[in-house]
Amino acid sequence: MMTPRYAHLMSANCSAVLELSDHEAPLWRYWGPRLPDDALPGFGLRAMRATPTFSLEDDFPLSLFPTFGVGWFGTSALLAHREGRDFAQAFTACDVIWRTPGQALTVRLTDRVTDLMVEIDLALDAGSDVLTLSTRLTNTGLDVLDVQWLAGAVLPLPARSARVRHYGGRHNSEFLLQEEPLARGIWRQENRRGLTSHDAFPGAVVVPLGCDAHAGLAYGAQLAWSGNHTQVIEWLEDGRFQWQLGEWLAPGEVRLARGECLETPQVLATCSMAGLNGVAAGFHKAVRARMTWPRDAMSPRPVGLNTWEGVYFDLDPAVLMQMADAAAKAGIERFVLDDGWFQGRRSDRAGLGDWWTDPDVFPEGLAPLARHVNDLGMAFGLWIEPEMVNPDSDLFRSHPDWALQIAGRPLLTARNQLVLDLTRPEVTAYLLDRLGALLDALPVSCLKWDHNRALTTAGSRGHAAYRRQTLAAYDLMDQIRSRWPDVEIEACAGGGGRIDAGILQHTHRVWTSDCIDAVSRVAIQRGFLQFFPPEIMGAHVGASPAHSTGRSQSLDFRAAVALPGHFGVELDLRHLTTGEAADLTGWIELYRSLRDRLHQGQVWLGEAGDSILWQAHGHKDDLLVLVYRMAPMTWKWPPTLILPMVDPDQTYRVEEVGPRPLSGGAPAPVFADYRSGSLEIHGAWLARQGLPLPPGKAETCLIYQISRVDPGV
Ligand code: DGJ
Repeated sequence: MMTPRYAHLMSANCSAVLELSDHEAPLWRYWGPRLPDDALPGFGLRAMRATPTFSLEDDFPLSLFPTFGVGWFGTSALLAHREGRDFAQAFTACDVIWRTPGQALTVRLTDRVTDLMVEIDLALDAGSDVLTLSTRLTNTGLDVLDVQWLAGAVLPLPARSARVRHYGGRHNSEFLLQEEPLARGIWRQENRRGLTSHDAFPGAVVVPLGCDAHAGLAYGAQLAWSGNHTQVIEWLEDGRFQWQLGEWLAPGEVRLARGECLETPQVLATCSMAGLNGVAAGFHKAVRARMTWPRDAMSPRPVGLNTWEGVYFDLDPAVLMQMADAAAKAGIERFVLDDGWFQGRRSDRAGLGDWWTDPDVFPEGLAPLARHVNDLGMAFGLWIEPEMVNPDSDLFRSHPDWALQIAGRPLLTARNQLVLDLTRPEVTAYLLDRLGALLDALPVSCLKWDHNRALTTAGSRGHAAYRRQTLAAYDLMDQIRSRWPDVEIEACAGGGGRIDAGILQHTHRVWTSDCIDAVSRVAIQRGFLQFFPPEIMGAHVGASPAHSTGRSQSLDFRAAVALPGHFGVELDLRHLTTGEAADLTGWIELYRSLRDRLHQGQVWLGEAGDSILWQAHGHKDDLLVLVYRMAPMTWKWPPTLILPMVDPDQTYRVEEVGPRPLSGGAPAPVFADYRSGSLEIHGAWLARQGLPLPPGKAETCLIYQISRVDPGV
């Protein structure tokens, strides 16, 4: 029996093992918890697979790039043809090029019959345990190749994979957890809205039975792409599953001439024995490492005031200056002027495209407001939606051909707007010119970059343009960033319609949802935190009742829910009572004192029971724990807060933090000790039996700092 050749990629906690041959794509042997270097078996995969009845004599197990038509019956990593020919590909030559031994390699596959080359890049990051994969397909043949599907990654999942946890929703309800069993068959998700979408996040987590938030083997993957996507999890006949993620392509969207190539977006994938929180930890590290910041480092995330829900389109420079005064007084650090400031924009029916200040509203332009904001010590931010045009705009009246369109089809509006064709150089030149004039004239520190509709009739000169449009949007952002490197960008798409690891390579935070109802937000933010770190999660204190739901919550609860994210305020501060203004100022101070700790390290999400949800931020020796009681108590005494991550051999001090005691009058003696910070508790007790929690009302939050007491300190 021949000993197989392997490629073993290793990180601190994970291994990925491919079985290599010169004559086929590498076979997936393993992806899971870290294996010792010498653990690889001396037998090949086929040595353990007898030929079943009624089967091909040749065995085609799951490879890194399984393809249709020549022995593989599962979902193909490639669907392509040349005028109907070359429909079945088989990559029969394979080279493996190590870029970093043990960590990063490129697999080059060639099919000499269909004249195609595929290069797959894999890298397993030692620190985050995240595997990054992407695929490049080159047409080396004479004739044009029509590509229908090219997987960015093909991942193996173990046979005991039981459930897929995926996230979807709608405007105002993003990242809602959907959980479905995996069975013999296919689980498939497709998004054809032309941007990431509110309803189908391009990623998921797969777990076997018994995996929970803190323990058990869990797998996660997400596509770093802001356009259409497909993900498929398919049961295979050896009991494993394959997971493919990639870009959904419209018919004719990718046609490769000789020598041309198609490169997929990257897929980020990770696995952890520490359950759902372990997967989140890997993703947070990887996303942080991919982001780029002005001056190369993230500054402490400034408290923002966004004008949208405070005044909507009703902009008046004098009122805005008063809002800025109140904001500065409350400790706010960035003032963002939202929609409504530009030519003709009195409602959402007109103006998009005409990116100059409306003189009817701002007779002296925006400079006096920006100066006023700066003089108060705050940074100035501005809302834009450059990819869009209203039919009622000067831009559209002069260039109706600049909208994405299909000849003979009606232009379908959404929120009264159309999408500009960014693949046309004259369109991006116009946008750069207009936005450049604003950025040159005003001290803009941050752009809130919105995108308020899905793409339809997304044709450009007769061809589908979804993919090119997404790339052009990235490019426009990059051009702006390279010319104005100190400007940060917030990605928004009617709230969270464009949140993905792709857009985050071009932006610095996202507007998580237009829903700032704190109860709804808890669920939305928990979904978000499965994939992304908290410091980029725009989270605001809104008015009560919440504009999106009509529900009311206390200021304390609204602030406590926003606290762990990139905190901001979105209401008209002038209408707060003196008491409310003082309370909000207290929360802003608290955020400013805690943000460095909230925004580094790990996030753990947990459930204590009886409607108590909690999240801990930081390191196992120094945690900030937010405990949210979502509904009225139904138990006589509350559950304890079990914190499985703490060190069972150490002692911890517990201290309640907050702008003032939030535990409602310390109803039993121990809780007074939390407030004074005098309670010490053994880590083993915390991890196994848990911290007692005081009784509380629905929609309240407690915040604890739980830090290790060093012996002798
Ligand atoms: C949708 C965004 O999500 C809101 O925050 C706001 O910016 C509006 N667009 C403005 O039109």
